[in-house]
Amino acid sequence: MSSAQLIAAARQLGTPLYVYDPELAKARIATLRTLFSDRFAVSYAIKSNPNLGLLSALCPVLDSFDASSWAEVERALAAGMPAARISFSGPAKRRFELERAVAVAVGELVVESLDEAKQVSELATASGRVQALLVRINPSQIPRKFGASMAGGASQFGIDEEDIAEQLPQLMTLPGVELIGFHCYSGTNCLDAASVAENFAIFARLFRLAQQVSGITPRKLIFGSGFGITYLPDEVALDVEALPSLVNPVVDALLAEPAFASARCSLEMGRWLIGPAGWLLTEVIAAKCSRGREIRACDAGFNNHLAACGMMGSVFRRNWVYQNLTNPDAALQTYTLVGPLCTTIDRLAMDLELPETRIGDIIAIPHSGAYGLTASPTRFISHPEPREALLLHGGVVDVTESLHNHPGSIHSSGVRS
Ligand SMILES: Cc1ncc(COP(=O)(O)O)c(C=O)c1O
Repeated sequence: MSSAQLIAAARQLGTPLYVYDPELAKARIATLRTLFSDRFAVSYAIKSNPNLGLLSALCPVLDSFDASSWAEVERALAAGMPAARISFSGPAKRRFELERAVAVAVGELVVESLDEAKQVSELATASGRVQALLVRINPSQIPRKFGASMAGGASQFGIDEEDIAEQLPQLMTLPGVELIGFHCYSGTNCLDAASVAENFAIFARLFRLAQQVSGITPRKLIFGSGFGITYLPDEVALDVEALPSLVNPVVDALLAEPAFASARCSLEMGRWLIGPAGWLLTEVIAAKCSRGREIRACDAGFNNHLAACGMMGSVFRRNWVYQNLTNPDAALQTYTLVGPLCTTIDRLAMDLELPETRIGDIIAIPHSGAYGLTASPTRFISHPEPREALLLHGGVVDVTESLHNHPGSIHSSGVRS
């Protein structure tokens, strides 16, 4: 998206403003299909960006949505995805969530434990149904170079691989469920193609183990992909072109085995698909020099973009890439960029080189399409929620959702507010 389009969007809808380019995300989905010669279906993890306008725009080019709450299932349905093409994963699914997922017959319930499978079986039996299940397996290892890893230690995610041999046979006796495949997702934001491939080989090993123990003919195998994107100025993008030669042999060897002949493999991901297709636009509200530091205070801080402020799992806070859209050609100066919150930790960037930056300038934070608004504590200090817009037909369309208007604004009791 051009700077002129972003500035026009900020003028039209005000800041803070998240802008998403669905065509760019669609192009990335198409790239995956071409790269892997359709070896994989593509499933979008709603948690990465649940905006309903965006989901509706992407729905026609996706194979499935992965939801991690009942509210996300509702979003997937509202976006036009048939229930049969929605998976529902996540720890601590509430009873009403399982009940509703069974009632609408989601394509796959991804169970994170044997107990959860038992609950699903009871609910399905009570409603005279058999619910399709995927078992999530928690690997004991993950290659290096994943940004955040869920594998190796004690975890709320999935059945530990060490327990598969004992627990799968028990799960197979449950009357209300049918085990149709397996799911692995153990790490995110990996920029190294060899590590991604190594992780897929770990998944393939676990899928074989789980198949042998259960004796099923899997129909679905979920590769929680963990493809990364760059955030910091010196990072090198994941070389996706290098992936097929590393990953295809792993998948082809698996699918060549008779037990896996009917399996459909799926890439489940969010960040790589939508991250580069989103920008947060924020306006400089105040400027001051304090003890030799040029400070610019913006109308968005960690309340609107926790990750850019280095507060979402980063060990060290490092500056993301920022652009001054309004004054791009001015001489560079060094700034401290802060947000509007009354706390010293509300800092976007330190010692940041930007072209001369004045009150009223619009600053863009690229690569903000995933885990931006959805992963930020927007209620802190009660500033207005950022708006959200889609770039469509060269202009922007406001797709802001009111906080109290989410399809899934349901209390844990299952009572709609
Ligand atoms: C089960 C599952 N699938 C997919 C994703 C999406 O991961 P990413 O956005 O890194 O692709 C996540 C993220 O936490 C996840 O927990």
